Amino acid sequence: MMRLTPISNLMAKPSFLPPFMFGLLFATFEVILSAKYPSFTVDQSALLALKSHITHDPHNFLATNWSTSTSVCNWIGVTCGSRHHRVTALNLSSMDLTGTISSQLGNLSFLAWLDIHQNSFHGSLPIELTNLRSMKYLDFGNNSFNGEIPSWFGCFTKLQRLSLYLNNFIGVIPSTLGNLSKLEKLSLGGNQISGRIPNSLFKCKELKYLSLYNNSLEGSIPTEIGNLTLLDTLYLGDNHLKGKQFLVIVSFIFI
Ligand SMILES: *[C@@H]1O[C@H](CO)[C@@H](O)[C@H](O)[C@H]1NC(C)=O
Ligand SMILES: *[C@@H]1O[C@H](CO)[C@@H](O)[C@H](O)[C@H]1NC(C)=O
Ligand SMILES: *[C@@H]1O[C@H](CO)[C@@H](O)[C@H](O)[C@H]1NC(C)=O
Ligand SMILES: *[C@@H]1O[C@H](CO)[C@@H](O)[C@H](O)[C@H]1NC(C)=O
Ligand SMILES: *[C@@H]1O[C@H](CO)[C@@H](O)[C@H](O)[C@H]1NC(C)=O
Ligand SMILES: *[C@@H]1O[C@H](CO)[C@@H](O)[C@H](O)[C@H]1NC(C)=O
Ligand SMILES: *[C@@H]1O[C@H](CO)[C@@H](O)[C@H](O)[C@H]1NC(C)=O
Repeated sequence: MMRLTPISNLMAKPSFLPPFMFGLLFATFEVILSAKYPSFTVDQSALLALKSHITHDPHNFLATNWSTSTSVCNWIGVTCGSRHHRVTALNLSSMDLTGTISSQLGNLSFLAWLDIHQNSFHGSLPIELTNLRSMKYLDFGNNSFNGEIPSWFGCFTKLQRLSLYLNNFIGVIPSTLGNLSKLEKLSLGGNQISGRIPNSLFKCKELKYLSLYNNSLEGSIPTEIGNLTLLDTLYLGDNHLKGKQFLVIVSFIFI
């Protein structure tokens, strides 16, 4: 049964602040916040920190272009939101850059697209990237990153694409990737990943593309792979997988 609140009750509610006062209060709050950390300065210093961690830029893409005399929104590879002028996408792919990823990149709080594939970035990925909760697209493919695939990738709940192919990642596929319920493309081929394929991966119901080729994965292919009803591309070759592959793949084809 539904309990109806008499209209007179609603009307009688004391409204201690008229709506426009709320607006004013928020506006003031926003001004105070942005005065403390002007947002354009935060994005600019995050990108300048990234630039300072790039040790080789043979075509001088950033050296001359990423200059403080213009807004970061005009910098090569940078895209800003039209309304708030914060950095939403960073695309430094195929620029032949060498360097590491600075932790300040985690300050680009509006960043949703990050594509740095086909460069020579190395080192491990800083945990500060977990601040980037809007992240939808991450392509770190064809670089020289090493260390384990961070389990904190599981916190990017909006992630649709994760590409780590052709790097030097070691260790296991973190089971936290199963938290990426929006993930459509996962590309981990050409690393030195070992262990079994975690069952949790098959919770990623939106997966269309799964590539794990040329790693050191072992064990059998979990039958739960049949749960991925949208899957249309699957690369598992050049691993140490054994067992029921044939049956699994046949049942996969007939789904
Ligand atoms: C930086 O590169 C962008 C895109 O190529 C270009 O539009 C802009 O004029 C360049 N800025 C400078 C200062 O060279
Ligand atoms: C980044 O730029 C390259 C080259 O212009 C392009 O092929 C690629 O699709 C871009 N990445 C994204 C995520 O838009
Ligand atoms: C940016 O990130 C660095 C390192 O993660 C941090 O020390 C700094 O306080 C952050 N904030 C700003 C506004 O730069
Ligand atoms: C990886 O990058 C190198 C250059 O850095 C390029 O020559 C090679 O074709 C790329 N491989 C793939 C598979 O994209
Ligand atoms: C992600 O998944 C793991 C297990 O697969 C779980 O323990 C964890 O709480 C989940 N959440 C986050 C934010 O990683
Ligand atoms: C796969 O689907 C079955 C049947 O719908 C379900 O019981 C099982 O929990 C699913 N497994 C995963 C890993 O999502
Ligand atoms: C697989 O990766 C190894 C290095 O880990 C490399 O030497 C080999 O050429 C790769 N094989 C294929 C088929 O890509």
